[in-house]
Amino acid sequence: MEMCNDKETLDTIVEEANKHTSQGKVADYIPALSLANPDTLSVAIFQNNNVCTTSGDINEKFTLQSISKVLSLAVALMDLGEEEVFSRVGKEPTGDPFNSIIKLETHSPSKPLNPMINAGALVVTSMIEGRTIDEKLERLLSFIQELTGNPSITVNEDVAKSEFDTAYLNRSLCYFMKQHGVIIDNVETLLELYTKQCAIEVNCEDLAKIGYVIANDGKDVDTNRPIIPLHIARILKTFMVTCGMYNASGEFAIKVGIPAKSGVSGGIMAAVPHGVGIGIYGPSLDDKGNSIAGMKVLEALSERYNLSIF
Ligand code: DON
Repeated sequence: MEMCNDKETLDTIVEEANKHTSQGKVADYIPALSLANPDTLSVAIFQNNNVCTTSGDINEKFTLQSISKVLSLAVALMDLGEEEVFSRVGKEPTGDPFNSIIKLETHSPSKPLNPMINAGALVVTSMIEGRTIDEKLERLLSFIQELTGNPSITVNEDVAKSEFDTAYLNRSLCYFMKQHGVIIDNVETLLELYTKQCAIEVNCEDLAKIGYVIANDGKDVDTNRPIIPLHIARILKTFMVTCGMYNASGEFAIKVGIPAKSGVSGGIMAAVPHGVGIGIYGPSLDDKGNSIAGMKVLEALSERYNLSIF
């Protein structure tokens, strides 16, 4: 694909997209995230076992936040199987913001509609295997280290604590679901694990590699060995299309047409089926919690290189 090694075009796209950062704002409901520089924007593109082109400061680190929901879902599906996982979380988009509680009350039973909204992700996190928080976190971390080939990936404890100390809405979701028997775990223990999961720290290259593995049906970058079984990689890509950008997923599918997952830190992980992984970091967010410049980058790349899957 000509996109690789065409740094000049990527730099132009990034420069153009960067003009939109002033229209958004950095997430501040997790206090530690408000420290990010709103004007930064970096992109890494991964293809054929290599980061083939980049733009911006790709060494800058950021936390996965909601991008981690794709990875915890992969682990839960691998460990427990589809039947068990989807008996506790649904497969349908909501059209509501990511932290909304409303459908838990209006739908009966109050099973979250999908694993990409906070309620659904909290249930999925409660299904990660292990006897202690440390064991469960280790299960997830080693999976992410395997996907990225980066053994130094770990949790940013400051961001985790900052979210844990202020996660009143996520606590409400958990207690609501616990009342209805959807969550069995101790809520504080689950929140500690969930906030650590969201605070796993990566850079754009790591994200691009994760996107590449998912794009390539779960096969390892170097060895082609399956890290994620094919049918699970398909499920992940499908959720990324239908729910990956929250209540902007429909518009994103029309404008961009690439399976992608965003997080409130400003990261976006995109997987162009059978070809390319894209990692983006741009912390200025739109009102739906998606990276404003990151979305522009993907829109421009999709148009320029005809990447839409539709
Ligand atoms: O649970 C939360 O609110 C955050 N840890 C993650 C939310 C998030 O990234 C939504 N993304 N756009």
